[in-house]
Parts: sequence; C-alpha cells; structure tokens
Amino acid sequence: MTKTTVSVIKADVGSVAGHVVTHEKILAKCRENLGKALDEGLLEDFYVTNCGDDTELIMTHRNGEENEEVHKLAFDTFMDATAVARELKLYGAGQDMLSDTFSGNIKGMGPGVAEMEFKERPSDPVIIFCCDKTEPGAFNMPLFRMFADPFNTAGLVIDPSLHDGFKYEVYDVMEHKKVIMSCPEEIYDLAALLGTISRYVIKHIYRKSDNEIAASVSTERLNLMAGKYVGKDDPVAIVRSQSGFPAAGEVVEPFAFPHLVGGWMRGSHNGPLMPVAQKNAHPIRFDGPPRVIALGFQIAESKLVGPMDLFDDPAYDRSRALASEIAEYMRRHGPFEPHRLPADEMEYTTLPGVLEKLEGRFTDID
Ligand code: 13P
Ligand code: 13P
Ligand code: MG
Ligand code: MG
Repeated sequence: MTKTTVSVIKADVGSVAGHVVTHEKILAKCRENLGKALDEGLLEDFYVTNCGDDTELIMTHRNGEENEEVHKLAFDTFMDATAVARELKLYGAGQDMLSDTFSGNIKGMGPGVAEMEFKERPSDPVIIFCCDKTEPGAFNMPLFRMFADPFNTAGLVIDPSLHDGFKYEVYDVMEHKKVIMSCPEEIYDLAALLGTISRYVIKHIYRKSDNEIAASVSTERLNLMAGKYVGKDDPVAIVRSQSGFPAAGEVVEPFAFPHLVGGWMRGSHNGPLMPVAQKNAHPIRFDGPPRVIALGFQIAESKLVGPMDLFDDPAYDRSRALASEIAEYMRRHGPFEPHRLPADEMEYTTLPGVLEKLEGRFTDID
C-alpha cells in the first residue's frame, strides 16, 4: 500500500482588527485553490482552518514530504490569499511571505511547515495543533510530557507498545544543528536542552522500537540563518495517537496546564498558552493570551475524517480560567521581565536607541 503524507503548511497573510483573526475570504480563497488541486489529483484531501491570524492548510497526499508541487501549491495559495488581504486592506497583508517567488521548497520562504509520511495503520488517529502568538519552542514542554513523562502518558508505563520509549530530534536554531536523543535513557539531558525554548526546538519524534514517525513540528524561520535569531513564528504540530503511540487523551493532556510561552504582544512578551476551541481562537486581550487549538482526524486511505475540535470541551474550562488568571498576573508586570522577554529575544526594541542617547551620560561606578 502506498504511503500517506500529511502536510500542514501555515502562514499569516493578513487579519482583521490588527493581528486578531484571519478573514473568511482568505479561507475561501485557500479552499478554492486546494479544491482545484484535489480535482487535479495532487491532493487526496484538505482542511483549511485558522488559529487567530494564522491560516493553516492541512493537506493529505501521496507525494511524500518536501514535495515541490505541494509546497508550490501552498506558496501560490498564500500569495493569492495575500492579494485578497491587500484588497480588503487587512492588517499585515502578506505578513509571513518573505519572498514573492517560489524556489523549489517553501522552507525558508516564511510559511511554517510540519509534515510526516507513514503507512496507514488499520485505524490512524492524528491530532493537529495550531498556535497563535507564540513560537515553536511552545511545543517543547507538551511534547516532552507526551512522549517522555509517565505522569502524563500512562501508556509509557503500562502499554508494551510504548514502553521502549521515543527518540527526539532537536534543532539548535541558533547554530543550525540537530541532534537525536533517546528516551527514557537521556531524559534529563533532553530536558536540559528543551528547557531553553528559544534555542532548542523539537522537530520530530520517532518511536524507538521501529523508528516510526510519531510527531512533527514546524520550526521555520527560526532556523533560517545560522547564528542569527530571526524572529518568532506561530507553530503547528502533527501528532499520531493510539496503538503504539500515546492515546488521544494523553496527547491533549499536557495542554491542560497553560505553561508560559514567548510571543504575546509584539512578539515580545511571555504569557500562558490557552487551549481553546477553534471558534475561540482569536487572541484579543493585549493581542493574546497565546492560543492553541487541537483538531483530531482519522486518516483513511489518505482522506481526512473529522475534525473533532478537541479543546472544545468543558474539561478544559479550568485550564482556560487558570490561563486568564496567569494572564492577569503577568500583565501586572507591564514592561518588566519576565512578562517582557529578555532583550535578545524581543521582536523589536528601542533599547539600542535608548543606550545611544545615554552614551555620554553613563559614568563609571567607583
Ligand atoms: P477504548 O477501550 O475505549 O478503545 O480506549 C482505550 C484507550 O487507550 C483509552 O485511553
Ligand atoms: P502575529 O505574529 O500573530 O502576527 O502577531 C504579531 C503581534 O505583534 C501581535 O501583537
Ligand atoms: Mg499577524
Ligand atoms: Mg499569528
């Protein structure tokens, strides 16, 4: 049987009332383009959605990862959607499109990409997470807990098919290097890296027993230039579940804790990651707090069955209430760390100008 590829490609191409939410006409344009690709046989299925101002193209096909035609389709679709955004004078029209010509692979051109290719199991549940107002490292803690923490994933302890553990492929986005680490043996070393969320970012997770792909995360733009930090990107992740992977409930469990992530307000503040239903994925207060949605699909002969909107669940009400409380607490810090990000991680800053102005006024402390 031929393999199935799931490609999630996303970009912020414009939004309504500042950076809040994408527009129905952008989504409609994306559906129109992907619909044509479906008719022409390039895609097997697709689902277009948004988390805040980020538009996500969820696509299934049989062409493998990094397929030039699929990437070009996504690129052209975002360019067409940008034209719609310009007509409507949406905010940040074409925001994430760093280039206006496609050159073989969408990576490094602005949009974020998470992909995986696999041979379908008899039943293949896949969960797709999409975030707004944060950065790829936002997935570090949840993915660590999903695939390495027995207090989150009971299956690591009680299910023989998970008991061997998982391997993490981690990118050093500053040095443009990657490393593979094996859990549970290297769990403390892995945590030592992943705790530095702005530098070490999970790219892939594999099941150790057979190298089967388990999770894939978008890390784009952060790794564009070695040694130079090039900004945050609202990330997406694909996670497989059940039968040899964490159960769906184990996959969504880490998000019950709204951990602090970077990317709120002007990409320069820390705030709690709030798990929400897709209909509530519109970050408003202080352009936030940061949001995550989870869409659950069954993959059947490369078709997307679903989605089930997994955080549209009263069981997450307490997490949302906690996130609101944390948001309030963080906001009270105003322009002070740790609400405001450290100087080297802010998306933009007046600090060099301020220092220049004060240059002659700084004197030695005796
Ligand atoms: P079912 O017995 O309902 O298939 O559930 C199994 C499971 O893994 C739930 O976490
Ligand atoms: P986005 O990265 O979601 O476009 O948000 C930018 C911003 O500065 C919000 O305050
Ligand atoms: Mg935006
Ligand atoms: Mg965004």
